Amino acid sequence: MRLSDLDTPAIIVDLDIMERNLRKAADYARSNGLRLRPHTKTHKSPALGRRQLDLGAAGLSVAKSTEAEVMLQSGTSDLLLAYPVIGRQKLQRLTEIARRSALTVSLDSLAAARPISDAAREAGVEIGVLAEVDVGLGRVGVQPGDELLSLVSGLARLPHLRWRGIAFYPGHIKELDDRGRADLETLRSTLFDTIRHLEQNSLHPEIVSGGSTPLLWYSHTIPGMNEIRPGTYIFNDRNTVYSGACTRADCAATILATVVSTAPGRMIIDGGSKTFSSDRLGYTADVTWGEILEAPHARFHKMNEEHGYVDLHAESTAFSVGDRVRVLPNHICVAVNLHEQVYGFRGDEVVEVWKVEGRGKLQ
Ligand SMILES: Cc1ncc(COP(=O)(O)O)c(C=O)c1O
Repeated sequence: MRLSDLDTPAIIVDLDIMERNLRKAADYARSNGLRLRPHTKTHKSPALGRRQLDLGAAGLSVAKSTEAEVMLQSGTSDLLLAYPVIGRQKLQRLTEIARRSALTVSLDSLAAARPISDAAREAGVEIGVLAEVDVGLGRVGVQPGDELLSLVSGLARLPHLRWRGIAFYPGHIKELDDRGRADLETLRSTLFDTIRHLEQNSLHPEIVSGGSTPLLWYSHTIPGMNEIRPGTYIFNDRNTVYSGACTRADCAATILATVVSTAPGRMIIDGGSKTFSSDRLGYTADVTWGEILEAPHARFHKMNEEHGYVDLHAESTAFSVGDRVRVLPNHICVAVNLHEQVYGFRGDEVVEVWKVEGRGKLQ
Protein backbone atom coordinates (compact mmCIF):
# COMPACT_ATOMS: atom_id res chain seq x y z
CA MET A 1 0.00 0.00 0.00
CA ARG A 2 1.20 3.50 -0.79
CA LEU A 3 0.72 6.61 1.32
CA SER A 4 -1.57 7.94 -1.40
CA ASP A 5 -3.86 4.89 -0.85
CA LEU A 6 -4.51 5.79 2.80
CA ASP A 7 -7.82 7.22 3.85
CA THR A 8 -7.52 10.44 5.86
CA PRO A 9 -7.06 11.75 8.44
CA ALA A 10 -4.31 9.30 9.35
CA ILE A 11 -1.23 9.38 11.56
CA ILE A 12 1.78 8.34 9.51
CA VAL A 13 5.21 7.59 10.92
CA ASP A 14 8.47 7.78 9.00
CA LEU A 15 10.14 4.57 10.19
CA ASP A 16 13.68 5.68 9.37
CA ILE A 17 13.28 8.74 11.60
CA MET A 18 11.54 6.78 14.37
CA GLU A 19 14.27 4.13 14.42
CA ARG A 20 16.94 6.82 14.47
CA ASN A 21 15.20 8.47 17.45
CA LEU A 22 15.00 5.15 19.31
CA ARG A 23 18.64 4.27 18.64
CA LYS A 24 19.92 7.71 19.53
CA ALA A 25 18.19 7.69 22.93
CA ALA A 26 19.25 4.08 23.63
CA ASP A 27 22.88 4.88 22.73
CA TYR A 28 22.81 8.03 24.84
CA ALA A 29 21.39 6.16 27.83
CA ARG A 30 23.87 3.32 27.48
CA SER A 31 26.90 5.55 27.14
CA ASN A 32 25.85 7.55 30.19
CA GLY A 33 25.06 4.57 32.40
CA LEU A 34 21.32 5.38 32.49
CA ARG A 35 18.56 2.79 32.38
CA LEU A 36 16.04 3.68 29.65
CA ARG A 37 12.44 2.94 30.58
CA PRO A 38 10.39 4.69 27.87
CA HIS A 39 6.93 5.95 28.70
CA THR A 40 4.59 4.16 26.30
CA LYS A 41 1.80 6.74 26.64
CA THR A 42 3.06 8.25 23.38
CA HIS A 43 2.47 5.26 21.08
CA LYS A 44 0.23 2.99 23.24
CA SER A 45 1.17 0.07 21.05
CA PRO A 46 2.78 -3.17 22.34
CA ALA A 47 4.56 -3.63 18.99
CA LEU A 48 6.39 -0.35 19.49
CA GLY A 49 7.08 -1.18 23.13
CA ARG A 50 8.70 -4.38 21.84
CA ARG A 51 10.82 -2.36 19.45
CA GLN A 52 11.97 -0.10 22.29
CA LEU A 53 12.97 -3.16 24.32
CA ASP A 54 14.79 -4.68 21.35
CA LEU A 55 16.71 -1.45 20.86
CA GLY A 56 17.96 -1.33 24.43
CA ALA A 57 15.17 -0.26 26.81
CA ALA A 58 15.40 -1.98 30.19
CA GLY A 59 11.65 -1.93 30.78
CA LEU A 60 8.56 0.13 29.96
CA SER A 61 6.51 2.79 31.76
CA VAL A 62 2.74 3.23 31.69
CA ALA A 63 0.26 5.57 33.38
CA LYS A 64 -2.75 3.32 33.97
CA SER A 65 -3.41 -0.23 35.14
CA THR A 66 -5.31 -1.04 31.94
CA GLU A 67 -2.42 0.33 29.89
CA ALA A 68 -0.13 -1.96 31.85
CA GLU A 69 -2.31 -4.94 30.87
CA VAL A 70 -2.03 -3.93 27.22
CA MET A 71 1.71 -3.37 27.42
CA LEU A 72 2.29 -6.91 28.75
CA GLN A 73 1.70 -7.96 25.13
CA SER A 74 5.07 -6.38 24.29
CA GLY A 75 6.67 -9.23 26.21
CA THR A 76 8.23 -6.86 28.73
CA SER A 77 9.37 -8.41 31.99
CA ASP A 78 9.61 -5.12 33.85
CA LEU A 79 6.88 -2.47 34.09
CA LEU A 80 6.69 0.82 35.95
CA LEU A 81 3.24 2.23 36.55
CA ALA A 82 4.17 5.87 37.01
CA TYR A 83 0.91 7.00 38.57
CA PRO A 84 -0.73 6.43 41.98
CA VAL A 85 -3.02 3.38 41.80
CA ILE A 86 -6.19 4.01 43.80
CA GLY A 87 -9.32 1.82 43.81
CA ARG A 88 -10.31 -1.82 44.27
CA GLN A 89 -10.58 -2.78 40.58
CA LYS A 90 -7.19 -1.31 39.82
CA LEU A 91 -5.59 -3.18 42.72
CA GLN A 92 -6.99 -6.42 41.39
CA ARG A 93 -5.48 -5.67 37.98
CA LEU A 94 -2.21 -4.74 39.62
CA THR A 95 -1.77 -8.07 41.37
CA GLU A 96 -2.62 -9.96 38.16
CA ILE A 97 0.02 -7.96 36.32
CA ALA A 98 2.54 -8.57 39.11
CA ARG A 99 2.16 -12.32 38.49
CA ARG A 100 3.29 -11.85 34.90
CA SER A 101 5.99 -9.19 35.12
CA ALA A 102 8.16 -7.41 37.66
CA LEU A 103 6.01 -4.41 38.59
CA THR A 104 6.82 -1.13 40.30
CA VAL A 105 4.38 1.66 41.12
CA SER A 106 5.26 5.25 41.94
CA LEU A 107 3.06 6.94 44.53
CA ASP A 108 3.13 9.78 47.00
CA SER A 109 1.18 8.65 50.08
CA LEU A 110 0.86 5.80 52.53
CA ALA A 111 -2.87 6.02 51.86
CA ALA A 112 -2.09 4.82 48.33
CA ALA A 113 0.58 2.34 49.44
CA ARG A 114 -1.27 0.46 52.22
CA PRO A 115 -4.04 -0.98 50.01
CA ILE A 116 -1.38 -2.09 47.50
CA SER A 117 0.49 -3.82 50.30
CA ASP A 118 -2.74 -5.53 51.45
CA ALA A 119 -3.67 -6.61 47.92
CA ALA A 120 -0.15 -7.92 47.28
CA ARG A 121 -0.26 -9.91 50.56
CA GLU A 122 -3.63 -11.44 49.65
CA ALA A 123 -2.41 -12.34 46.17
CA GLY A 124 0.97 -13.58 47.40
CA VAL A 125 2.97 -11.24 45.14
CA GLU A 126 5.56 -8.55 45.69
CA ILE A 127 5.19 -5.09 44.15
CA GLY A 128 7.97 -2.52 43.95
CA VAL A 129 7.30 1.07 44.99
CA LEU A 130 8.99 4.37 44.24
CA ALA A 131 8.30 7.41 46.39
CA GLU A 132 7.22 10.25 44.12
CA VAL A 133 8.81 13.58 44.88
CA ASP A 134 7.60 16.92 43.53
CA VAL A 135 10.52 18.74 41.92
CA GLY A 136 8.55 21.77 40.76
CA LEU A 137 5.62 20.68 38.59
CA GLY A 138 3.19 20.82 41.51
CA ARG A 139 1.26 17.77 40.31
CA VAL A 140 1.89 14.63 42.36
CA GLY A 141 4.76 14.01 44.75
CA VAL A 142 5.68 14.87 48.31
CA GLN A 143 8.04 17.71 49.07
CA PRO A 144 11.72 16.84 49.20
CA GLY A 145 13.20 16.64 52.71
CA ASP A 146 11.26 15.49 55.76
CA GLU A 147 8.03 14.72 53.86
CA LEU A 148 9.89 12.40 51.54
CA LEU A 149 11.80 10.84 54.41
CA SER A 150 8.61 10.08 56.26
CA LEU A 151 6.98 8.55 53.13
CA VAL A 152 10.02 6.40 52.36
CA SER A 153 10.32 5.22 55.99
CA GLY A 154 6.65 4.19 55.89
CA LEU A 155 7.01 2.43 52.53
CA ALA A 156 10.05 0.50 53.67
CA ARG A 157 7.99 -1.00 56.52
CA LEU A 158 4.99 -2.17 54.50
CA PRO A 159 4.91 -5.94 53.84
CA HIS A 160 4.81 -7.32 50.29
CA LEU A 161 6.02 -3.98 48.95
CA ARG A 162 9.65 -3.46 48.06
CA TRP A 163 10.75 0.14 48.38
CA ARG A 164 13.11 0.63 45.43
CA GLY A 165 13.79 4.34 45.26
CA ILE A 166 12.31 7.64 44.16
CA ALA A 167 10.56 9.00 41.09
CA PHE A 168 10.05 12.52 39.80
CA TYR A 169 8.80 14.19 36.63
CA PRO A 170 10.25 17.56 35.58
CA GLY A 171 7.30 18.44 33.34
CA HIS A 172 7.50 22.11 34.33
CA ILE A 173 10.69 22.48 32.25
CA LYS A 174 9.45 22.74 28.69
CA GLU A 175 12.21 24.76 27.11
CA LEU A 176 15.81 25.61 27.96
CA ASP A 177 15.38 29.39 27.90
CA ASP A 178 16.62 31.45 30.89
CA ARG A 179 13.76 30.28 33.06
CA GLY A 180 14.22 26.63 31.96
CA ARG A 181 17.95 26.73 32.65
CA ALA A 182 17.34 28.18 36.11
CA ASP A 183 14.72 25.49 36.79
CA LEU A 184 17.14 22.80 35.61
CA GLU A 185 19.80 24.13 37.99
CA THR A 186 17.27 24.03 40.84
CA LEU A 187 16.30 20.48 39.85
CA ARG A 188 19.96 19.40 40.03
CA SER A 189 20.48 20.78 43.51
CA THR A 190 17.10 19.50 44.73
CA LEU A 191 17.93 15.98 43.65
CA PHE A 192 21.45 16.12 45.01
CA ASP A 193 20.15 17.25 48.43
CA THR A 194 17.25 14.80 48.33
CA ILE A 195 19.41 11.75 47.74
CA ARG A 196 21.99 12.87 50.30
CA HIS A 197 19.25 13.39 52.89
CA LEU A 198 17.89 9.88 52.33
CA GLU A 199 21.37 8.36 52.51
CA GLN A 200 22.18 10.23 55.71
CA ASN A 201 19.17 8.40 57.10
CA SER A 202 20.42 5.02 55.84
CA LEU A 203 17.84 4.87 53.03
CA HIS A 204 19.63 4.07 49.78
CA PRO A 205 17.49 4.47 46.64
CA GLU A 206 18.37 1.76 44.14
CA ILE A 207 16.29 3.55 41.47
CA VAL A 208 16.13 7.30 40.85
CA SER A 209 13.65 7.52 37.99
CA GLY A 210 12.94 10.77 36.18
CA GLY A 211 13.50 12.54 32.93
CA SER A 212 11.36 13.78 30.07
CA THR A 213 11.80 14.38 26.36
CA PRO A 214 12.61 18.12 26.66
CA LEU A 215 15.41 17.26 29.14
CA LEU A 216 16.44 13.99 27.50
CA TRP A 217 19.92 15.11 26.41
CA TYR A 218 20.60 16.76 29.78
CA SER A 219 19.82 13.59 31.73
CA HIS A 220 23.48 12.84 32.47
CA THR A 221 23.80 16.23 34.19
CA ILE A 222 21.13 15.46 36.78
CA PRO A 223 22.90 14.05 39.84
CA GLY A 224 21.87 10.60 41.03
CA MET A 225 19.24 9.97 38.33
CA ASN A 226 19.88 6.47 36.99
CA GLU A 227 16.66 5.78 35.07
CA ILE A 228 14.98 7.93 32.40
CA ARG A 229 11.39 7.75 31.15
CA PRO A 230 11.07 9.83 27.98
CA GLY A 231 7.93 9.10 25.98
CA THR A 232 7.52 11.64 23.19
CA TYR A 233 11.09 11.10 21.87
CA ILE A 234 9.99 8.09 19.77
CA PHE A 235 8.03 10.37 17.40
CA ASN A 236 8.76 13.93 18.60
CA ASP A 237 6.33 16.74 17.79
CA ARG A 238 6.04 20.49 17.50
CA ASN A 239 6.43 20.83 21.27
CA THR A 240 9.68 18.87 21.19
CA VAL A 241 11.04 21.13 18.44
CA TYR A 242 9.98 24.14 20.51
CA SER A 243 11.75 22.68 23.57
CA GLY A 244 15.01 22.48 21.62
CA ALA A 245 15.35 18.71 22.19
CA CYS A 246 15.02 17.94 18.46
CA THR A 247 14.72 19.54 15.03
CA ARG A 248 11.89 19.19 12.51
CA ALA A 249 13.99 16.57 10.76
CA ASP A 250 13.64 14.39 13.88
CA CYS A 251 9.83 14.46 13.84
CA ALA A 252 8.71 11.00 12.73
CA ALA A 253 4.93 11.39 13.01
CA THR A 254 2.66 13.67 11.03
CA ILE A 255 -1.04 13.66 10.35
CA LEU A 256 -2.09 13.21 6.77
CA ALA A 257 -5.19 15.29 5.99
CA THR A 258 -7.28 16.13 2.92
CA VAL A 259 -8.43 19.56 1.80
CA VAL A 260 -12.24 19.39 1.79
CA SER A 261 -13.13 23.01 1.03
CA THR A 262 -11.42 26.15 -0.21
CA ALA A 263 -12.24 29.85 -0.36
CA PRO A 264 -9.99 32.86 -1.10
CA GLY A 265 -7.24 32.90 1.54
CA ARG A 266 -8.56 29.84 3.33
CA MET A 267 -8.86 26.08 3.23
CA ILE A 268 -10.54 23.52 5.45
CA ILE A 269 -8.87 20.18 6.16
CA ASP A 270 -10.65 17.00 7.27
CA GLY A 271 -9.46 17.02 10.87
CA GLY A 272 -10.16 19.18 13.90
CA SER A 273 -10.00 18.66 17.64
CA LYS A 274 -11.02 14.99 17.31
CA THR A 275 -8.00 14.39 15.10
CA PHE A 276 -5.30 16.68 16.49
CA SER A 277 -6.51 17.29 20.11
CA SER A 278 -6.71 20.80 21.55
CA ASP A 279 -3.30 20.81 23.21
CA ARG A 280 -1.52 24.12 22.71
CA LEU A 281 2.12 24.76 21.96
CA GLY A 282 4.24 24.73 25.14
CA TYR A 283 3.87 27.76 27.38
CA THR A 284 3.54 30.14 24.40
CA ALA A 285 0.72 32.52 23.52
CA ASP A 286 0.59 30.85 20.09
CA VAL A 287 -2.83 29.46 19.24
CA THR A 288 -2.17 27.30 16.22
CA TRP A 289 -2.78 23.57 16.05
CA GLY A 290 0.02 22.30 13.91
CA GLU A 291 2.37 23.10 11.06
CA ILE A 292 1.39 22.26 7.50
CA LEU A 293 4.58 20.88 5.96
CA GLU A 294 3.56 21.77 2.39
CA ALA A 295 2.60 25.33 3.38
CA PRO A 296 5.10 26.79 5.85
CA HIS A 297 3.40 30.22 5.83
CA ALA A 298 -0.12 28.90 6.39
CA ARG A 299 -1.74 29.27 9.83
CA PHE A 300 -3.77 26.35 11.15
CA HIS A 301 -5.51 28.67 13.56
CA LYS A 302 -8.91 27.24 14.41
CA MET A 303 -10.63 23.88 14.88
CA ASN A 304 -14.09 22.47 15.24
CA GLU A 305 -14.42 18.78 15.98
CA GLU A 306 -13.96 17.65 12.37
CA HIS A 307 -12.84 20.83 10.60
CA GLY A 308 -9.41 22.40 10.55
CA TYR A 309 -9.32 26.07 9.48
CA VAL A 310 -6.16 27.07 7.63
CA ASP A 311 -5.46 30.72 6.82
CA LEU A 312 -3.52 30.93 3.55
CA HIS A 313 -3.16 34.71 3.16
CA ALA A 314 0.61 34.61 3.71
CA GLU A 315 1.13 31.37 1.78
CA SER A 316 2.18 31.26 -1.88
CA THR A 317 1.18 27.63 -2.58
CA ALA A 318 -2.40 27.25 -3.80
CA PHE A 319 -4.52 24.29 -2.70
CA SER A 320 -7.53 22.59 -4.29
CA VAL A 321 -10.19 20.32 -2.89
CA GLY A 322 -8.77 16.80 -2.72
CA ASP A 323 -5.16 17.87 -2.15
CA ARG A 324 -3.42 16.21 0.75
CA VAL A 325 -1.22 17.84 3.35
CA ARG A 326 0.89 16.61 6.22
CA VAL A 327 0.50 18.34 9.56
CA LEU A 328 3.06 18.27 12.38
CA PRO A 329 0.86 18.26 15.51
CA ASN A 330 1.58 20.20 18.69
CA HIS A 331 1.37 17.14 20.92
CA ILE A 332 1.58 13.72 19.30
CA CYS A 333 0.74 11.65 22.41
CA VAL A 334 -2.81 12.94 22.71
CA ALA A 335 -3.30 12.77 18.94
CA VAL A 336 -2.32 9.08 18.89
CA ASN A 337 -4.89 8.39 21.61
CA LEU A 338 -7.57 9.69 19.21
CA HIS A 339 -6.70 7.33 16.37
CA GLU A 340 -7.41 3.61 15.96
CA GLN A 341 -4.21 2.88 14.12
CA VAL A 342 -0.93 4.39 13.09
CA TYR A 343 0.80 3.72 9.78
CA GLY A 344 4.57 3.24 9.45
CA PHE A 345 6.08 4.11 6.08
CA ARG A 346 9.40 4.11 4.22
CA GLY A 347 9.62 6.32 1.14
CA ASP A 348 6.14 6.11 -0.33
CA GLU A 349 5.27 2.64 0.95
CA VAL A 350 3.18 1.92 4.03
CA VAL A 351 5.02 -1.05 5.49
CA GLU A 352 3.52 -1.42 8.98
CA VAL A 353 0.20 -0.74 10.67
CA TRP A 354 0.00 -0.62 14.46
CA LYS A 355 -3.27 -0.80 16.30
CA VAL A 356 -3.30 1.75 19.11
CA GLU A 357 -4.18 -0.96 21.64
CA GLY A 358 -3.83 1.32 24.64
CA ARG A 359 -6.15 4.08 23.38
CA GLY A 360 -9.00 4.83 25.72
CA LYS A 361 -7.41 2.71 28.46
CA LEU A 362 -8.10 5.25 31.15
CA GLN A 363 -8.73 3.12 34.25
C1 LIG B 1 5.25 10.48 34.89
C2 LIG B 1 5.73 10.72 33.50
N1 LIG B 1 6.91 10.18 33.12
C3 LIG B 1 7.39 10.35 31.87
C4 LIG B 1 6.70 11.10 30.94
C5 LIG B 1 7.26 11.26 29.54
O1 LIG B 1 7.64 12.57 29.28
P1 LIG B 1 7.71 13.20 27.81
O2 LIG B 1 6.32 13.34 27.32
O3 LIG B 1 8.36 14.52 28.00
O4 LIG B 1 8.49 12.29 26.97
C6 LIG B 1 5.48 11.69 31.30
C7 LIG B 1 4.73 12.50 30.34
O5 LIG B 1 3.65 12.99 30.55
C8 LIG B 1 4.99 11.49 32.62
O6 LIG B 1 3.82 12.04 33.02
